[in-house]
Amino acid sequence: MAKVNGDYLKLPGSYLFSTIGKKVREYQAANPDKKVIRLGIGDVTQPIAPKIIEVLHEAVDEMGHAETFKGYAPDLGYEFLRDVIAKKDYQDRGCYINADEIFISDGAKCDCGNIQEIFSRDNTIAVCDPVYPVYVDSNVMAGRTGEYDPATERFKDVIYMPCTKDNGFIPEFPKQVPDLIYLCFPNNPTGMVITKDRLQEWVDYANMNGSVILYDAAYESFISDDNVPHSIYECEGARTCAIEFRSFSKTAGFTGLRLGFTVIPKDLVLEGTALHGLWARRHGTKYNGAPYIIQKAGAACYTDEGRKQINEQIAFYMGNAKIIREGLSGAGFEVYGGQNAPYIWLKAPDNLTSWEFFDLLLNKANIVGTPGSGFGPSGEHYFRLTAFGSREDTLEAMERIRNL
Ligand SMILES: Cc1ncc(COP(=O)(O)O)c(C=O)c1O
Repeated sequence: MAKVNGDYLKLPGSYLFSTIGKKVREYQAANPDKKVIRLGIGDVTQPIAPKIIEVLHEAVDEMGHAETFKGYAPDLGYEFLRDVIAKKDYQDRGCYINADEIFISDGAKCDCGNIQEIFSRDNTIAVCDPVYPVYVDSNVMAGRTGEYDPATERFKDVIYMPCTKDNGFIPEFPKQVPDLIYLCFPNNPTGMVITKDRLQEWVDYANMNGSVILYDAAYESFISDDNVPHSIYECEGARTCAIEFRSFSKTAGFTGLRLGFTVIPKDLVLEGTALHGLWARRHGTKYNGAPYIIQKAGAACYTDEGRKQINEQIAFYMGNAKIIREGLSGAGFEVYGGQNAPYIWLKAPDNLTSWEFFDLLLNKANIVGTPGSGFGPSGEHYFRLTAFGSREDTLEAMERIRNL
């Protein structure tokens, strides 16, 4: 008799966004005249930049002619895209990464979720708390964790690294040395960033202990401070201990188009086996490539015109982030993040829980955000707002918060 994968049954339901949706629907049904502003979304709202649309059209037309039609993409992705990524994202920043160390995919979520497959099931994992849930859940599904404990809101056999006000929301080395270390900077949900010096300490730690860092840099393009690394490969020694994930989703509004990539340096070798070869094998077996037209659109992001237009969009979102940061600070809130990331992490006032503050904000100001406790127990009493709304909504939301 066939059996289900029992590891999936360890996962508690994902209540965060469904509970938010239900509460908002109920409120809106009871108060149809009220305009609810949604600042909880982690999705972009600006349309795809004109240069990218132009290239998309050209690529679609190419598909309609026998001479330019494209079928399956090369396993690792088209060279025209990998070459430009290697040059502009890495070599121009002084990072030694070659085009053949880049694997094009349809986004960072799949890669972050799938990467654990090339590691032994015996490996221990360490994650930040609060955390982007994909890192933990994908390891639960693979049987790399114990049961979920509702009392602690944690899985057994996972090393959680609390990121709190006391440590500046940057994880400290855990007591038990992990095999795999998930780091995400700029961070979702806290919007905080790590300095190059601190990241270098993590790289040294990983090299010393034989650990691998899985570095999610999906929000890299929102960085503006000079001492904040855009890539883990800016740190010395990262080629022997780190894998990096990138995404076009927030950088260029590709959440619906889907494009990302993973970097695995050839120097990353465990027990005599290069991880690059294992991921290439997995890619070749289980994945058939991001569409040609989307890879063309991705390459357009690196043209002067494309880059300029994308930078304007990022500046727009970061303008929203500034309005939220200043609005909240002015209203007396404790505010973090939002300077090199599109997320603002605020402390709920009067020791309210994250969900109590959610209800208060929804009922009194008709604003929707995301309760911090939904990202892990260390997120309790915190709340996430995003800079992805319209300017009008962002300004109005801050006005409403001021009048609370
Ligand atoms: C930290 C982090 N990594 C990865 C992703 C997913 O990116 P993609 O759209 O490329 O799958 C997200 C999306 O919200 C994210 O917040």
